Amino acid sequence: MKTIFIDTPHNPTPLQDLLEAFPDDAPGAVEMLEMIFGLPALTRCSPTVLLYILARQYNYPEGRILEIGTHKGHTAAAISWAAPQAKIITIDPCTEFVEQAKYLLIHHDAFGLNPPYANIEMINAYSWDMLAYYTGPYFDMIWVDGEHEVRMVEDLGWWNWLKIDGVMVFHDYYPLFPYVQGYVNMLRSRLGREYDVAILRDGGTVGFYKREGDPEWT
Ligand SMILES: C[S@@+](CC[C@H](N)C(=O)[O-])C[C@H]1O[C@@H](n2cnc3c(N)ncnc32)[C@H](O)[C@@H]1O
Repeated sequence: MKTIFIDTPHNPTPLQDLLEAFPDDAPGAVEMLEMIFGLPALTRCSPTVLLYILARQYNYPEGRILEIGTHKGHTAAAISWAAPQAKIITIDPCTEFVEQAKYLLIHHDAFGLNPPYANIEMINAYSWDMLAYYTGPYFDMIWVDGEHEVRMVEDLGWWNWLKIDGVMVFHDYYPLFPYVQGYVNMLRSRLGREYDVAILRDGGTVGFYKREGDPEWT
């Protein structure tokens, strides 16, 4: 289980240190993301780098990763690239975004993925509607970046579908999104421990691995 802390009070590791581990692992991954989405990977995309490294741990055929909030597919692409053997499910209620994500991913097969991003399944729905009818299987990783207001609390219900040793990661954990911060703090209190991963810059990203004996979210 990779434990990563960037710019947190207890470990102000510069992001550059993290990226230095990158070339061996995935040549060009950051450049690839920049090319597809036109984002400066070293700044705004630091959560993307974190996601890439976390998802890499679950790169096996039984691996299952859920993304809540597809938008244009940027982070789905990073996760797919990190774990090409795993199945990635990404969900978004906005039909326009889902269509844009499909377009962007399918038209950028610059990396010999054939067919590109074949391991991504896009679902056009609200996460809480999917949760209401979900019957499994469990996920190795859950990336939460969907609703940012009061109903975000419902996404914590996905914690109960996380495998032991799986990781649940939350974006926008900072004061601009008080609901996100408040609900993640509730999970932290419920678990009785600090985050296992955190990048507290560019909008905070924090996450917890699930351990034996952890409480379910109720
Ligand atoms: C900040 S964007 C996600 C960005 C994306 N993860 C990335 O970095 O490439 C948030 C997305 O969540 C979607 N969203 C909002 N509520 C949602 C929900 N309940 N379930 C799933 N997606 C939701 C929005 O339509 C929007 O596209």
